[in-house]
Amino acid sequence: MTELPEHVLRNRAVWDDRAKEYVASGERRWARDEPVWGIWSVPESQVGVLPGDLAGADAIELGCGTAYISAWLARRGARVVGIDNSEAQLATARRLQSDHGLDFPLLHGNAETVPYPDASFDLAISEYGACLWADPARWVPEAARLLRPGGRLVFLTNAFLLTLCVPDEDGVAAGDRLLRPAFGLYRVEWPGDPGVEFHLSHGDWIRLLRGSGFELEDLIEVRPPAGATTRYPYVTLEWARRWPCEEVWKARKR
Ligand SMILES: C[S@@+](CC[C@H](N)C(=O)[O-])C[C@H]1O[C@@H](n2cnc3c(N)ncnc32)[C@H](O)[C@@H]1O
Repeated sequence: MTELPEHVLRNRAVWDDRAKEYVASGERRWARDEPVWGIWSVPESQVGVLPGDLAGADAIELGCGTAYISAWLARRGARVVGIDNSEAQLATARRLQSDHGLDFPLLHGNAETVPYPDASFDLAISEYGACLWADPARWVPEAARLLRPGGRLVFLTNAFLLTLCVPDEDGVAAGDRLLRPAFGLYRVEWPGDPGVEFHLSHGDWIRLLRGSGFELEDLIEVRPPAGATTRYPYVTLEWARRWPCEEVWKARKR
């Protein structure tokens, strides 16, 4: 077995520990018919994350966690595979598969090196999964390898602007000041947090996507509706109604 990179090992420990905090939200999302996205649970009808033609598509969720997105894809007729770095998250996913009578492969592994042949999938998707916690220089080319020509990559992660405005202190919401330089941001370790995140500027994402064989199709800046709520303390609704705190990238394999 190849050795896992240091950030993957660290994030594995983080997510094995954090998994218990994601059981209830996983249960709620598995129980939903219409997908909702991100920390504000914006309905699919308002944000348009999913491609329309999922029936019969081969799909992979990179960093699937409790695998509710995989469940939504499977219910829309896709043949789906979920991969996640945390066995504890996958334990919840497996239990929810059995509760909901759905069965699809769930792999314990690193989305930077996926044990599937080239051109196995039509869709690769990630919501705060590999797109936040895996090294983009590794997982984006790996997603390109896994996709067929014309296949889609869709991912939702923190907006770059939010990352520039979130204070280092845990539990404190972003304000209207830029707190760190944009240039040079890539690997981010928050003080007191053992996890490793990756945050790229828009230019860096575009160059990486195009250099890996993708054409960019859209960048959706998610705006939560008035009255939306979140359990995360790092951004307020007032902020998120004024500036994008989440973004959805859509690209297509050439
Ligand atoms: C926030 S959850 C994402 C799942 C779900 N969409 C959600 O928002 O709750 C982050 C997930 O990414 C997984 N993850 C982190 N690094 C990964 C990697 N290198 N490969 C695969 N999964 C990874 C974690 O184990 C965790 O389950």
